[in-house]
Amino acid sequence: MLPKHIGFIMDGNGRWAKKQGKPRSFGHAKGAEVLEGLCDHLFEKGVRCLSFYAFSTENWSRPEEEVKKLNDLLVKFVKKFLPTFIKNKTRLVISGDLTSQRISDSTRKKIMNAVEKTSEFTEHIVNICYNYGSRSEIVHAVNALLERGESVTERSIEENLWTNGLGDVDLIVRTSGEQRLSNFLLWQSAYAELYFTDCLWPDFTNDEADKALMWFENRKRTFGGV
Ligand code: FPP
Repeated sequence: MLPKHIGFIMDGNGRWAKKQGKPRSFGHAKGAEVLEGLCDHLFEKGVRCLSFYAFSTENWSRPEEEVKKLNDLLVKFVKKFLPTFIKNKTRLVISGDLTSQRISDSTRKKIMNAVEKTSEFTEHIVNICYNYGSRSEIVHAVNALLERGESVTERSIEENLWTNGLGDVDLIVRTSGEQRLSNFLLWQSAYAELYFTDCLWPDFTNDEADKALMWFENRKRTFGGV
């Protein structure tokens, strides 16, 4: 079986850069390049949705220069790939708190413009988790329901998550040898298979992705049954 939705925790950019004697941001830039070939490769295989953890709510505590570079990378990525997304009927979703004052108006505008221009597509989805934290996403969803006086159920929570419509995550891939979820898609990954590799994110080739798919194929998923 092929996963319909894969979540990527793109870890190890800093260590990769350090090994080359380069600043951490060099690793992030290399990491962003990985997405370019990877999305096409996995969509061609038949995966529907790809979620990427690009910037967490905790990442604001990194040095100012690194934060700026990460934000710039996202804007650059969106600008570069919007024509391809439109051509390939790929929907761009940005999951996270985009209302934050820390995000500049210009960044917000550029991102939202791309999101709107691709919002009708359903075939392929690229979901970038930006200023994202899973606990905050759940709290946000529950508060939205309470404010409208609606009942809180699993379904209603799901419909109010930033990832509404993307479905559960089948497979989480985390690179660089760390084995934790770090507040990434906690609700959506309740039954996800977790794949950890020592490979650092900038070295994550399409072949590495195929290894993860092969590993997933051999998992026996029972969803609590037998
Ligand atoms: C974790 O590695 C990675 C991040 C916090 C950012 C990931 C962002 C990108 C790959 C590029 C931006 C993405 C898009 C969509 C343009 P780390 O820096 O914590 O690595 P380390 O653990 O080796 O220090």
